[in-house]
Amino acid sequence: MCSKFKLHRCSGGIHPSMNAVVSEVVIKRAEICDIGQMIGVCRQAFPRSLLWQNDRRLARQWWNVVLSSKAVENWVLREAGEIVALSVLILDEARWAREQPLRRGPLRARMLAALRHPLLAACRIARLCTSRLKPVSETSYSVQLPTDWGPAMRTWLALIATRSDKRGKGYAGCLLEKCVLRTARLGRRAIALRVACDNTGAKALYKKHGYLFYISDAKGKLYVRFLNINPDCQNA
Ligand SMILES: CC(C)(COP(=O)(O)OP(=O)(O)OC[C@H]1O[C@@H](n2cnc3c(N)ncnc32)[C@H](O)[C@@H]1OP(=O)(O)O)[C@@H](O)C(=O)NCCC(=O)NCCS
Repeated sequence: MCSKFKLHRCSGGIHPSMNAVVSEVVIKRAEICDIGQMIGVCRQAFPRSLLWQNDRRLARQWWNVVLSSKAVENWVLREAGEIVALSVLILDEARWAREQPLRRGPLRARMLAALRHPLLAACRIARLCTSRLKPVSETSYSVQLPTDWGPAMRTWLALIATRSDKRGKGYAGCLLEKCVLRTARLGRRAIALRVACDNTGAKALYKKHGYLFYISDAKGKLYVRFLNINPDCQNA
């Protein structure tokens, strides 16, 4: 399915040479031929990620598995034909978890990646160790959550990114709204996601789009957006 719309907005508002700037923007499902551009977006968006900063084979393997998976929907946003933003929405969390070894690629390639980027590898190991050591407190929710919003009743936003030169134009917001529409069409009640504690830009984006912070775990902060939101839910 293809959604097509026009965005009457640019990062600086109205362009000086025109009364209004109209960029044609299209959101569509990603295809195999989009992988090269998607890797480019991720390399820019995640400078501390071993997966994206490494040679492209591991990243290509990751996208190949994602694109052939029935567990996710992968949307790309094109401006003038170029991919400038993307999202990965998980529909089946159990399947996504089972497919993880396939996405990660062979051990030898990952070891080589770690040797090539020792600093990034060390950061990753540190993050993994912290996440194992730090217990998650399931009792300290910051919002009141309905009981029936388990994996069958929600989707999970695994990835969202905008190319650095195209930020602030509402593109990530458009992808978030696309995810809301898809989640609603599937009859699910909520979208959840996790964001790193120090990612202030992304946290502001999610708050702006109605996501409520509900708990911190060892890997970051979890946010949820309910499609038929409970007015009693208060943001922390
Ligand atoms: C977070 C990200 C996806 C936002 O993309 P974007 O296309 O610029 O977002 P939009 O233009 O739709 O929304 C902009 C809104 O997001 C928030 N925001 C984004 N970046 C921000 C920043 N650096 N500081 C503060 N707020 C920020 C603001 O609420 C802003 O709204 P405003 O312009 O009215 O203030 C983009 O910065 C990115 O790709 N970051 C790197 C990857 C990443 O961190 N992804 C999220 C992983 S959980």
